[in-house]
Amino acid sequence: MIKVGIVGARGYTGEELIKLLINHPGVRLTYLAATLQKATPIDEIFPHLKGLIDLKCENFDMARAAQKCDLVFLALPHTVSMEVVPKFIKKNVRIIDLSADYRLKNFSTYKEWYHKAHKDKANLKKFVYGLPELYREKIARSDFIANPGCYPTAAILGIVPALVSGLADKDGIIIDAKSGVSGAGKKVELGYIYPEVNENFKGYKFNVHQHSPEINQELSKVSVSKVNVTFCPHLLPVNRGIYETIYIKLKKAADAETVMDVYRKFYKLEFFVRVSRSGRLPELKDVVGTNFCDIGLSYDAARSQLIVVSVIDNLLKGASGQAVQNMNIMCGFDEKTALL
Ligand SMILES: NC(=O)c1ccc[n+]([C@@H]2O[C@H](COP(=O)([O-])OP(=O)(O)OC[C@H]3O[C@@H](n4cnc5c(N)ncnc54)[C@H](OP(=O)(O)O)[C@@H]3O)[C@@H](O)[C@H]2O)c1
Repeated sequence: MIKVGIVGARGYTGEELIKLLINHPGVRLTYLAATLQKATPIDEIFPHLKGLIDLKCENFDMARAAQKCDLVFLALPHTVSMEVVPKFIKKNVRIIDLSADYRLKNFSTYKEWYHKAHKDKANLKKFVYGLPELYREKIARSDFIANPGCYPTAAILGIVPALVSGLADKDGIIIDAKSGVSGAGKKVELGYIYPEVNENFKGYKFNVHQHSPEINQELSKVSVSKVNVTFCPHLLPVNRGIYETIYIKLKKAADAETVMDVYRKFYKLEFFVRVSRSGRLPELKDVVGTNFCDIGLSYDAARSQLIVVSVIDNLLKGASGQAVQNMNIMCGFDEKTALL
């Protein structure tokens, strides 16, 4: 039995991690922490957990966390994770970090987009980007995972088959992305309160969203040349779910069946990525509450214009579900354990 802890257990992704991990036969939750004056039973914080778990959520204490855990999930805000990661590494605790702190491999890019200098350059290289569909073997060999961002997960999975097949023109890719409000975490900010979001729909951070460099980094890696997408995020008036409409020009003439085949073949062995049948576009309700990424295609051969729809649950395939998928791979469990 692997002893597992969650730091940031009171947040949205922390809550999802608890729900998944209490159903995992190979691990035991031994430590939950956040910022608290006094340790509090987790079923007081989340009453739906009553009768399911008997553990307190404590104020985070490094020594206690390291003593209680073989592996820790860091469900912490970015710039906070990098404060604690070096200490966990020193104590030989395996880490799955849900924040952005170990995703970008270039320090100056991190500073430019997160507005703070990276504090743990020494350990950055140790982290594997935790997208199982691209890096399963590396994840299996690693003790340290940088869990991908929610928007990047849907975008990368939606674009990679067209890029690696050589069909896509890598220039001019446009990602029109929409996210449910839980994507912003449990914060109280005017733009995220109910009357501002409900019955509304708005774009934000066009061209300046911090997930742009992560998407570009990963797409550039697979295409072995610089990719620079246009990324336009929007806020949907729903709690959870990400819907991305991705516009890709093809540089090679192809028919719709060939394009569909490229996607089907790429994900043939991937349980958590489902390519919709021809003519159907996936919807949020197909994936919310699951660890699936569903992908649908619309292709106009006359204009060589491919439109990809990629949908996920931001809190599952976009965060905690993918984190558990990564843990399963790292620890040799069946990849689907606790995720169905
Ligand atoms: N939400 C998503 O859809 C999503 C998707 C992918 C990745 N992520 C990333 O995952 C991370 C967590 O996101 P979230 O949405 O769960 O955020 P959240 O709801 O704001 O929760 C953050 C948690 O971190 C805790 N925390 C903050 N500073 C701390 C400190 N110094 N020591 C101990 N605990 C501390 C908070 O404690 P208190 O409860 O005591 O305040 C809270 O429990 C973020 O980096 C986010 O970018 C989120």
